[in-house]
Amino acid sequence: MEAIANGLILLMLSIGHAELWTSVINRTHALKIHEVYLKRLRHVLELLMVLFPLVLLFAVGLSDPGVLVGGEWSQLPLWWQPILLLCTLGFLGLIYSGVRHQFYRPPRQQTAQESELIHLRERLKQDLIGEGPYHYLAGLPFNEIFSVEFTRKTFQLSRLPEKWEGLTILHLSDLHFSGTLKREYFIELCRIAQEMKPDLIIFAGDLIDRMECLDWLQETLGPMQAPLGRFFILGNHDWNQESLQIRQTLSETGWIDLTAEPVRLQHEGQTLFMAGTEAPWMGKLQDVKLSEDNAADDFLLLVSHTPDNFHWAEREGYDLVLSGHTHGGQVRVPPFGPIFAPSLHGTRYTSGTFFRGSTLLHVSRGVSGIHPLRWFCRPEISLLTLHSADKK
Ligand SMILES: [Fe+2]
Repeated sequence: MEAIANGLILLMLSIGHAELWTSVINRTHALKIHEVYLKRLRHVLELLMVLFPLVLLFAVGLSDPGVLVGGEWSQLPLWWQPILLLCTLGFLGLIYSGVRHQFYRPPRQQTAQESELIHLRERLKQDLIGEGPYHYLAGLPFNEIFSVEFTRKTFQLSRLPEKWEGLTILHLSDLHFSGTLKREYFIELCRIAQEMKPDLIIFAGDLIDRMECLDWLQETLGPMQAPLGRFFILGNHDWNQESLQIRQTLSETGWIDLTAEPVRLQHEGQTLFMAGTEAPWMGKLQDVKLSEDNAADDFLLLVSHTPDNFHWAEREGYDLVLSGHTHGGQVRVPPFGPIFAPSLHGTRYTSGTFFRGSTLLHVSRGVSGIHPLRWFCRPEISLLTLHSADKK
């Protein structure tokens, strides 16, 4: 009986160890580090995650002190103690993020949410898996990559001009064209998104993972239209590609690059200030810092690829921040929820709506990823409807 309990403790310590390195992977993937180096780091840490349980089993479990064969924890060699304490903290951290995920509720500023699930494979009646990288993942059982959730969320914002009551923004993010999912999948997605008839369209970055797919833009994002315009920023995956060429090609289809310079849109006699940031990968947060000139603007929108800039945007006084990048975690492990998220905040802002100070953040789960795998985390395209709240 004691051996079983000690076996469970060793398992818990191994999970805690893996969580510690996962937390390092999450934080390093939030930094301006090229994908090649990140991949190497990931492989080393994944190897450590596999080897550690074996070392733990043979050293602590079977030899010294041998807790699985009658040994006592009190005889644990001194040098093991800080390591196992860290592993315990890692396990507690995982429990904490799981509890936070289970108890997540949108802030009161989000007054409604509904969604329609569209199964693209059934709808198009064709195989949508191409020959791109990691295409073998796309066909795994229970992969939800072809089941896209078109969500409609309603926000009530105190600074929104009353004349803009009911203004709609289509929030698209993380398309990741790589050839792994066929072009037809994205054409259909964009066509359905267009049917939601938004007033304004925002793309929040990560468009191209393989430059061969650049000409897909003409048939996907290219035809989309909205009365107030279509605006984009790029993401860290575009930074790993030929970002200048991506930027230029999308601009040629009529989309406006929000990072070139902030835009002031006049709508119903009031001003919407829109800025975009791809920091830390391209540009600096300083480029989208608000100034005294913004005092005359009626509403301030920041499109930031990573949600990590949320706290900065809140301190600046932005009203609304739209982000992607974290993909909702892509794979969620019940009951813990998301485990991987390339963010300095770990899994805290993987998706959903958050409110701090007077700033609302909406993080889209995005559509795809370089790894075409989604378990318990469907792709998402959102239509956000804004209402003005009581100014008191
Ligand atoms: Fe992404």
